[in-house]
Amino acid sequence: MIDNLPQLLAEMTLEEKAGLCSGLNFWETKAIDRLGIPSIMLTDGPHGLRKQRANSAELGLFDSVPATCFPSAVGLAASWNTELLQSVGAALGLECQVESVGVLLGPGANIKRSPLCGRNFEYFSEDPYLSSHLAAAHIQGVQSQGIGASLKHFAVNNQEQRRLTIDAVVDQRTLHEIYLASFEYAVKAAQPWTVMCAYNKVNGEYASEHAYLLNDVLKTAWGHEGLVVSDWGAVNERVTGLAHGLELEMPGSGGVTDKLIVAAVNNGGLALGALDAAVLRILKLTQKVLQNRQPDAVFDAPAHHALARKVATECMVLLKNESQLLPLAKSAKLAVIGELATSMRYQGGGSSRVVPTQLDETLTEIGAKLQGGKVDYARGYDLASDQADAALVAQALAAAQSAEVAILFIGLPDRYESEGYDRTHLRIPDNQRQLIDAIAAVQPKLVVVLNNGSPIEMPWAAHAGAILEAYLGGQAQGGAIADLLFGDRNPSGKLAETFPLRLEDTPAFLNFPGEQDTVEYREGMCIGYRYYEAVKRPILFPFGHGLSYTKFEYGSLNLSATNIHENDSLNVNLTIANTGTQHGQEVVQLYVADLVHSLSRPQKELKAFAKVSLAPGESKTVSFALDRRAFAFYHPTLADWVVESGKFDIVVGASSQDIRQQASVEVQSDWQAISHYHRNTAVGTLLARPETAALLHNWLAEVPPEANFLTIMQSMGSDMLEAMAQEFPLRALVLFSRGHIDFARLDALLEQLRKV
Ligand code: BGC
Repeated sequence: MIDNLPQLLAEMTLEEKAGLCSGLNFWETKAIDRLGIPSIMLTDGPHGLRKQRANSAELGLFDSVPATCFPSAVGLAASWNTELLQSVGAALGLECQVESVGVLLGPGANIKRSPLCGRNFEYFSEDPYLSSHLAAAHIQGVQSQGIGASLKHFAVNNQEQRRLTIDAVVDQRTLHEIYLASFEYAVKAAQPWTVMCAYNKVNGEYASEHAYLLNDVLKTAWGHEGLVVSDWGAVNERVTGLAHGLELEMPGSGGVTDKLIVAAVNNGGLALGALDAAVLRILKLTQKVLQNRQPDAVFDAPAHHALARKVATECMVLLKNESQLLPLAKSAKLAVIGELATSMRYQGGGSSRVVPTQLDETLTEIGAKLQGGKVDYARGYDLASDQADAALVAQALAAAQSAEVAILFIGLPDRYESEGYDRTHLRIPDNQRQLIDAIAAVQPKLVVVLNNGSPIEMPWAAHAGAILEAYLGGQAQGGAIADLLFGDRNPSGKLAETFPLRLEDTPAFLNFPGEQDTVEYREGMCIGYRYYEAVKRPILFPFGHGLSYTKFEYGSLNLSATNIHENDSLNVNLTIANTGTQHGQEVVQLYVADLVHSLSRPQKELKAFAKVSLAPGESKTVSFALDRRAFAFYHPTLADWVVESGKFDIVVGASSQDIRQQASVEVQSDWQAISHYHRNTAVGTLLARPETAALLHNWLAEVPPEANFLTIMQSMGSDMLEAMAQEFPLRALVLFSRGHIDFARLDALLEQLRKV
């Protein structure tokens, strides 16, 4: 046990301090035996433990100890269930205890800027509110077991192309409202023991040495108490990184960077205080890991598998269900088609890849459900190829023709999406695409089950009566799919991302993945549904969409007030009723729309959500508390969050497009949107507000009519001149006044305006 940290620090040599700031090897920190400081282990990854086996190659990518593989983040997000995420986190934390791992490297809270990002399956959402709240729950779950989480990859890491060097160029408002907000709540609410900095640059600086991101935002503004660890190999300039808030470098550099730190302290390039502060944070983490160690921990692998199955049922989204094709009768004669039913794709490729403790085969699980029914299996296509195989297709058609319903398993093979590379299109392999069309031609009752980590184009969607998005559902995915197909469980997942119709429709289409070493986020804040709503672009399935086997009715909204001050909390409640015949869960989504704004704002933004569980005929009241932040936007000039007075709509729905109830509230703010008047302020800006318009008119009243340029322009009955007058800067009123107004008088007006 290490107790007195300041004392330990005082006893450490400069070399020991520098050494502690980088790993011993790939996964462990250095021990300092003479002071009793042990190593701790940090290892992947978000949806399962990937601990390298004792004698495997250093990365342990394909040789890790068996661990429960839960659904990937894309699926977990579709559950919209924070309690569920906590329980997954707690299970992960316990498995870490059993393996003596101190920190689990996850969750990833990067925003899904483009559906092409190869690592989207490891991230939660296109929406920062949802992403940040789910990340917080995940962290709370892991840390409830005395294991540290590592919230990653901070920040603006939204593509795999050139991921170690790309410079993500993003404006301040977008940075704060979208890309940082996705981390902010998770940091503040869950205090992850570690935050992992990203590989990339952000506005010209490497995230691993970004003073603004690491010191100013994360540590100072958000109050992060833990430490920052580098993504594996993200360090550029070690000494700069240390000075700017990166405490721990992983993996170890074999002492190369430790020497740089020692030299920098000796030559005055790095303040000893900065090194000491970093070492203290590393000691604190070590102490926490030791204090929370449970040497006798055991986990019940079958129980975790059962949890993974329950979780997976909540992570799948019923996208379409015409004529109630689902659920299926257990007595039905079924054709199960597609290699993905037997060679399941249940997790993504890369550092998060887990060796599962067991693996459900989807075909077997479907067979196990039958009571009097029958299932015929046909492989349909070769998963390793894009070419159609005539023999496989013929077999599949025969199976489909002689069945009552065909269930077709399609999706993306590993080679289509993974950590390490981005996709270049949203298509599924051609042979799968052709198979859908062929089967649909012979079997009208067609259910499509999808395995993919991010959206795909579905020009074939009209051919399928039902589509179940199973995402990458973890090791119990097969059982969960069977539970949902036969109605033993009711689908309750909703999309945490928009499914576009075409790649060309996506917000970052023109600027992804950038050119050479730079990617400009020119679409700004308008990503995901914020974009599709702004440009009124049709989409395939909206953000928040997901069907159920039952029906929910939304009662009208009750607001605690219709007029609030920005610092008041607004309570919103409504009743949700299950009016169908099956037990079900509904994800109720609350969006806020700012109707009066001096800077542009998205049409509406998610600000609260809840998942309600209801028996048939049951109803419950759902309550939401909206605080100041629900109404605020980030003002780039003030570098702060502000609320602008005016009317806001509170919009509640079953998806971002299936709006069921709406109400409005007037919010009074202490902040004045337009507070900086100067000689170049446009006349129209003053005319837009009654108070400032009155001052302008009073001021002009003293000028003879022939010198009053504004009135002259306005009195000519021309829309064009009226519009032009609005655009004139105030100084033009002086210049056109034929000497009747001078700049001293204009400054006097400005003085009055500043008091409004
Ligand atoms: C990934 C991280 C991961 C780390 C350790 C990096 O390449 O970006 O997400 O935690 O490797 O495996």
